[in-house]
Amino acid sequence: MNGPPLPRVKLAHLPTPIHPLPRLSTELGGPQLWVKRDDMTGLAFGGNKIRKLEFLLAEAQAQNAQTLITRGAVQSNHCRQTAAAAACQGFDCILVLTGNPPQTTTGNTLLDQLLGAQIVWTEDKHPDIALQETFEQACSDGQQPYLIPYGGSNPVGASAYSAAMAEFINQDTPIDRIVLATSSGGTQAGMIVGARLHGYTGKITGISVDPTADKIKPRIAALATETSALLNHSFEVTADQVEVNDSYLGGGYGVMSDLERDAIKLFAQQEGLLLDPVYTGRAAGGLIDLIRGGEIGSEERVLFWHTGGTPVLFAYADELV
Ligand SMILES: Cc1ncc(COP(=O)(O)O)c(C=O)c1O
Repeated sequence: MNGPPLPRVKLAHLPTPIHPLPRLSTELGGPQLWVKRDDMTGLAFGGNKIRKLEFLLAEAQAQNAQTLITRGAVQSNHCRQTAAAAACQGFDCILVLTGNPPQTTTGNTLLDQLLGAQIVWTEDKHPDIALQETFEQACSDGQQPYLIPYGGSNPVGASAYSAAMAEFINQDTPIDRIVLATSSGGTQAGMIVGARLHGYTGKITGISVDPTADKIKPRIAALATETSALLNHSFEVTADQVEVNDSYLGGGYGVMSDLERDAIKLFAQQEGLLLDPVYTGRAAGGLIDLIRGGEIGSEERVLFWHTGGTPVLFAYADELV
């Protein structure tokens, strides 16, 4: 049974383009590669969170919130996109960023400040505790805060990627496998729901950026199940229906190695396409490795779903060149 569509504010430039990557396909000797450009969702350098924020901000507006609060890493793309969405929709924004202020203000931390967000550094506190304290303080200050979960990954946020799958299917590009960077899991969970609702039967391969597969697969499955219920379709997704590859965790979150560096340079120099060092660089590194190792066959049609993050390139300048 279809319910009314979820309320949504317009933030993203949609549909994002899909285009082939012919030089990269030739270089890698086989699979037809395509890219979906969610790095071009438009607002303040774009990225996947802009889609989620369309639904989250609609909920914040419905609750008469004044202040958006969320948390993330120092170079969080999610936080930068939240700050931009807050600015253009007239909310105040508080970002709880892990650790201490960096010595150099660059990449997303520069943008967070330009976008007018207030930054709270967690210093030695656990980020969840710092977030809770910030939220309680904002409540007692009468700021009417709306809490956006880590990565925007709750059913409201994930529903954006169900809608994104409808958009992708309407673009009519036959694809056997989607490959994406997965972290808090909302993007992949939404895609799984959207695939089922809108009729995409190919694979959806998440390349994990930080959690191990045994941790993230049940989380994505539970989130997909809850998202399907929110969309009035209530079906169960189980962990074994979620495909996540955790072979590329390397030195951990945000630690760039040759895998990411080489992928960034290959995409840039073959296609003029920029990736980021933390998410899409790692996912593309995984994709290249799966192709070279023969796990992705030369006959497959593969869509790399670019989820953004490019401002972080500048924070890694010294390690990239
Ligand atoms: C550039 C980029 N790609 C992928 C992801 C992962 O998305 P999700 O947290 O929905 O798994 C993020 C999350 O912050 C991101 O910033």
